Amino acid sequence: MNIYDRIKEDHDNAREVIKQIKDTSNRAEKTRHELFDRLKLDMWVHHKVEEAVFYSHLRAGKDMHGEAMEAVNEHHTANGLFEELDTFPVNSEEWLMKFKALSELVEHHMEEEEEKFFPKAKKIIPKEVAELMGQRFDSRKRVVMAALEPLDVEELTSV
Ligand SMILES: [Fe+2]
Ligand SMILES: [Fe+2]
Repeated sequence: MNIYDRIKEDHDNAREVIKQIKDTSNRAEKTRHELFDRLKLDMWVHHKVEEAVFYSHLRAGKDMHGEAMEAVNEHHTANGLFEELDTFPVNSEEWLMKFKALSELVEHHMEEEEEKFFPKAKKIIPKEVAELMGQRFDSRKRVVMAALEPLDVEELTSV
């Protein structure tokens, strides 16, 4: 899978989880928390690996330097909002309001990547390189996700 399709796969997954979170009621505290934790971890890793595998290359060149900087900047903003939201009680109206603002930012960012950045990058990055980037994105993301999974102490001591 090339880098564009692989990134799009993550985006579609994030869109689905965002929708699920918006559908939860303020009383569905546990579900909302679990979905949010999943989205936060996945997006954080997505942003970091996307920067390392995709944007670092574009940032180094001159044709898409500006776009790459803009993307990295938006990642920082989104990651910061995820952290901030993590300190609010999930069962409040305020949380949902803040989540909606965050999801708008994230959705806008993903759309911009898919509609504006990818078509431009496709003209710069050779097809075979885009394919290899997709493989690296996938393998690196797996490693980082596994490393950041919360440690299950019960499972650890049951052996
Ligand atoms: Fe991004
Ligand atoms: Fe992305």
